[in-house]
Amino acid sequence: MRPTALLTPLVRPSTLDELGWPLHTDLLTLRRGRSEDAEAVWPWYRLPEVQEWTTTLSPTLADHQEWWDRTLDTCVVGLQDGRIVAAGKIERQDAWSQADMREQAAGQQAEIGWVLDPAVQGRGLGTAFAAALRDVAVDGLGVRRVEASCFAENLASRRVMEKIGMRLEGTFREESLHRSGRWLDGMSYAQLASEVR
Ligand SMILES: CC(C)(COP(=O)(O)OP(=O)(O)OC[C@H]1O[C@@H](n2cnc3c(N)ncnc32)[C@H](O)[C@@H]1OP(=O)(O)O)[C@@H](O)C(=O)NCCC(=O)NCCS
Repeated sequence: MRPTALLTPLVRPSTLDELGWPLHTDLLTLRRGRSEDAEAVWPWYRLPEVQEWTTTLSPTLADHQEWWDRTLDTCVVGLQDGRIVAAGKIERQDAWSQADMREQAAGQQAEIGWVLDPAVQGRGLGTAFAAALRDVAVDGLGVRRVEASCFAENLASRRVMEKIGMRLEGTFREESLHRSGRWLDGMSYAQLASEVR
């Protein structure tokens, strides 16, 4: 279910902070990430099965806190029963354009990403959280295109993208260097706002 508060925006906000938080879906409450959330999510964020696919490896809570604080601009968390079970990002970006169209292309798309507490995985929450992030980008910020990417071996994340209706737009052969030392295929998914509605 789309977050209800997004359905009838009176004035379209341009930043995440301008949206009316928290937002509620059937399964999750979403709000902006805060500095103190870093410590709250650390017990599960640091688990090997989570960090396997994350961009940034944080060996210690101090490293994690430093990284978390640097990414707060784009951070949205998902709560169940008052506990943070999901952390995600919505990063508004400029679309590629010809140089003379840069102003019109500015902020027209968003990249989304997600990480879920393994304790609650496999119950549809990853899909619900990803759909909510997509809806915040489309209905809340009004972007015309949403993108997400992952290692091709990250089958759970690929399935989440497929389940929320994102389209596989590119497979890039051995494009991405995993911290295991292996060059892995990368995959890029996208969805237009017009395809969501
Ligand atoms: C990706 C992630 C958010 C999915 O969370 P989740 O709560 O398990 O997601 P859901 O319960 O909504 O369902 C995910 C779907 O993926 C499938 N799936 C889960 N693990 C899978 C696996 N190892 N291989 C294939 N499919 C898998 C599930 O069966 C389900 O599909 P289905 O409904 O058709 O059966 C979670 O696994 C995660 O946080 N992973 C670590 C961090 C990460 O990879 N982030 C993304 C980086 S791009």
